[in-house]
Amino acid sequence: DEKLAIAAINAAKNLEDLKQVKIDFIGDKSPLAKSNQRLGSLSSEQRAQFGKIIGAARSNLNQIFSAKNESLEREKDAHALLTERVDITLPNRQSLPGGLHPLTLLTNEISDLFLGIGYEIKEGPELESEWLNFDALNIPADHPARTMQDTFFIEPLEAKLVLRTHTSPVQIRTMLDQKPPIYVICPGKVYRADELDATHTPVFHQVEGLVIDENITMADLKGTLDYFAKSIFGEGVKTRLRPSYFPFTEPSAEVDFFFNGRWIEWGGCGMVNEKVLTACGIDPKRYSGFAFGMGLERTLMVKYGIEDMHDIVEGDIRFSQHFGVGK
Ligand code: PHE
Repeated sequence: DEKLAIAAINAAKNLEDLKQVKIDFIGDKSPLAKSNQRLGSLSSEQRAQFGKIIGAARSNLNQIFSAKNESLEREKDAHALLTERVDITLPNRQSLPGGLHPLTLLTNEISDLFLGIGYEIKEGPELESEWLNFDALNIPADHPARTMQDTFFIEPLEAKLVLRTHTSPVQIRTMLDQKPPIYVICPGKVYRADELDATHTPVFHQVEGLVIDENITMADLKGTLDYFAKSIFGEGVKTRLRPSYFPFTEPSAEVDFFFNGRWIEWGGCGMVNEKVLTACGIDPKRYSGFAFGMGLERTLMVKYGIEDMHDIVEGDIRFSQHFGVGK
């Protein structure tokens, strides 16, 4: 039996084989262990005699076993070193360089052209309080913009949080935060419960402009919009204002621009409503201001003749490559 065991140990090719050998020849159920148990039924003389034989066999086996175990471990390590080695002289795999999405490029372009005339960039949270998104902007509780169709309300409703439906709450945050003169633009994501189609997406981007200073008039607003439109769409581009209504501006207007032979709606604007100024602790007798807000997807689509919103949101590299990304 001992010879058989030694042969089995020596025949083991790997640690798994050896584990089985241990179970078969050394473990609790091995003949060796069983003979050891049977010692109890022998006379004391025989017990001493066979005990010695079994003990010697066991210690001999254990020794051979440990030696084999060690050498197999060493073999395994050596094998791992060989097969898992990394050739650091191989050339790396070619990967396309990453790049900025055209919307990000446009946001940067707009930020730059306003930074250039002394504006600051302001950002606010996309998860916004109902109060800042609506109430502080003079949007009453029964205003259609609040209904379930347009606004993503967040559970629990008592928390009074929404995914902001426009960037105008950043106006309020800015006015509560800093004293006039204020010259800021606020680019960012906004959310409305629309299906994704060729012209809509439930998540889109706006850029908001806000100016509060002494003697600000609608002429300043018009001049700023002209500068904005010409910088984005080209020198020859004109803008026009059409009377409109927003609760947070008075008077309010829609701004259009003339591009490729037609008038295109761009966004909303107006003089900041005195009620809003007062709510933000700004004295309407001393200060006045204007605000404007437009969609960036729309701006991008018009500027580059993109016909389908899907192209902007789907992240296909071939689309971004038109804008110099990943070439
Ligand atoms: N917040 C308005 C919207 O999302 C746009 C707007 C901004 C209008 C600023 C007037 C002044 O539709």
